[in-house]
Amino acid sequence: MASPVPRIFVLTGAGISAESGLGTFRDRGGLWARFDPMRLATPEAFAADPDTVLDFYNWRRRNALAAEPNPAHRALARAQARAAEAGGHLFLCTQNVDDLHERGGAGAVVHMHGELLKARCTGCGHAFGRRDDILRAQPCPHCARTGTLRPDIVWFGEMPMHLEAIDAALTRADLFVSIGTSGSVYPAAGYAAQARTLGIRTCELNLEPSDNAGLFDETRYGPASEVVPAFFAGYGLG
Ligand code: OAD
Repeated sequence: MASPVPRIFVLTGAGISAESGLGTFRDRGGLWARFDPMRLATPEAFAADPDTVLDFYNWRRRNALAAEPNPAHRALARAQARAAEAGGHLFLCTQNVDDLHERGGAGAVVHMHGELLKARCTGCGHAFGRRDDILRAQPCPHCARTGTLRPDIVWFGEMPMHLEAIDAALTRADLFVSIGTSGSVYPAAGYAAQARTLGIRTCELNLEPSDNAGLFDETRYGPASEVVPAFFAGYGLG
């Protein structure tokens, strides 16, 4: 017998953390309106000026650690738990590099653009938890080389993480929910179209219509802290 609770694929973006005080990228006054991503978020920028790149991510890490999850993060975590209890599943895929989903109570979170609270060694590939600033003089705890540590973040021109697991989850879903993302960075920006091709119902929850708004069967516009709890309550997952 089919599960009465759908298998839900949720994609989140910076908009879900906006009310926690973390800036989005492309809104007016957003991070990429104030800073040039080509000088801060590419492997070439890191090679040319590692201190500036590390400073930028050290600043963002401190901001993320000071932020608190908001009602949207908590509602999603609740929906994930309720879906599992009821025999369904909520796959939570985020483009965000903060840990507010986890601190809001979510179980499994797939960070396709990496995590601010992890560092990685460009020498040996070792990745590890890092809550403090990453400094150039700090040796890799695995291979002991110095000058090789970087944030474990996906930069422009690099391959997002966990793509196989994401693809498999999207293929199995019967409801696709996009929350707080402008739909401008691929591959995530292509998931709504992919879901439609697969015959999956698509929903957008956002402050305002995104670039992909035309691809959604259902849309709810307003602050995430209001529309996300209301949306999942409507599915009996509140
Ligand atoms: P964007 O800044 O592109 O889009 C943020 C979206 O959130 C917009 O559609 C806003 O309308 C919406 N928004 C703002 N405040 C909101 C609120 N209170 N409630 C609900 N929605 C709100 O951010 P992303 O789509 O996440 O990648 O950007 C995708 C990727 O681009 C990021 O992961 C990052 C960036 O470059 C990397 O750094 C690799």
